Amino acid sequence: MAPRIAHLGPIELLTPRFDASLAFFVEVMGMEVEAQEGPSTYLRGWGDYQRWSLKLTAAATSGMAMLGLRATGADELGRLAQEIDAAGLGEGWHDGDLGRGDSFRFRDPDGHRFELYADCERYVPPPGREPALKSVPGRYVGRGCAVKRLDHVNLLAADVRPSRDFCVDVLGYRLYERIELDDGSEAGAWMSATIAAHELVYTRDAHGAHGRLHHAAFWVDTREECLRAADIWLDAGVQIEAAPSKHAIAQGFFLYGIEPGGNRVEVTTGGRLVYAPDEPCVVWTEAERAKGQAWGVQTVPSFHTYGTPPVDGDA
Ligand SMILES: [Fe+2]
Repeated sequence: MAPRIAHLGPIELLTPRFDASLAFFVEVMGMEVEAQEGPSTYLRGWGDYQRWSLKLTAAATSGMAMLGLRATGADELGRLAQEIDAAGLGEGWHDGDLGRGDSFRFRDPDGHRFELYADCERYVPPPGREPALKSVPGRYVGRGCAVKRLDHVNLLAADVRPSRDFCVDVLGYRLYERIELDDGSEAGAWMSATIAAHELVYTRDAHGAHGRLHHAAFWVDTREECLRAADIWLDAGVQIEAAPSKHAIAQGFFLYGIEPGGNRVEVTTGGRLVYAPDEPCVVWTEAERAKGQAWGVQTVPSFHTYGTPPVDGDA
């Protein structure tokens, strides 16, 4: 199948502690405020080519309100909308969000809300703030973790398989890696619209809940910046859930923590690139996953249970 989705993002996150969350993404993560509209602030990393990649919205609870997917073109967007409607998951056309053309909303089989679009405005730096290189969207921001862009999103699903099938069969995602438990069920699926080994991930919701977020990951170019991000989080009093290490799956280098609103956020780099068009899907077994991450570090228990919005007994 020819690519139908160009890439993932932007993402809209909800936070019950808006001011603290905004301060985290601006001061600690180093993102820039691009616009303000009602209860939402639009933010960008210095390497985001679009005007924004994160919409932070004040709400009663946490979690993901919407995940954007950019279609590869206007014709493809129209065909996707028809097929998603035929699958019974469409929610209709809307005026696009800030800087975007017409958008088609839908829910995945687990209930997460998505917005498909084709046209979007590119970021134009204000006069005097242009980067030296024409090939860079914005000037490097040497503040906090100075994250470059939104990289990938991991969603929780009560049942991974239907959402994985929908993404592969309808949206045209490639399935690069997955976890198959001893009982034959799927505990996780790592998919991508690009050669980056993971872009859109579904893992099993330990609470059997629907439509929850596991984490949103933001890119830095080097492992050293990821380690520095951990030092910055430490001084800023950010709750570090998992200190820097390397994932076995997709080989991404990570730092995980909880932003003030409760959402799990990752600073990431590395990860394998898949060049082969016929690359076989890597299937991880329960015994292999029990060995922990790439270098043997055991995954903290909360990583398998916590998501947003929180459910009862999941503080
Ligand atoms: Fe991740």
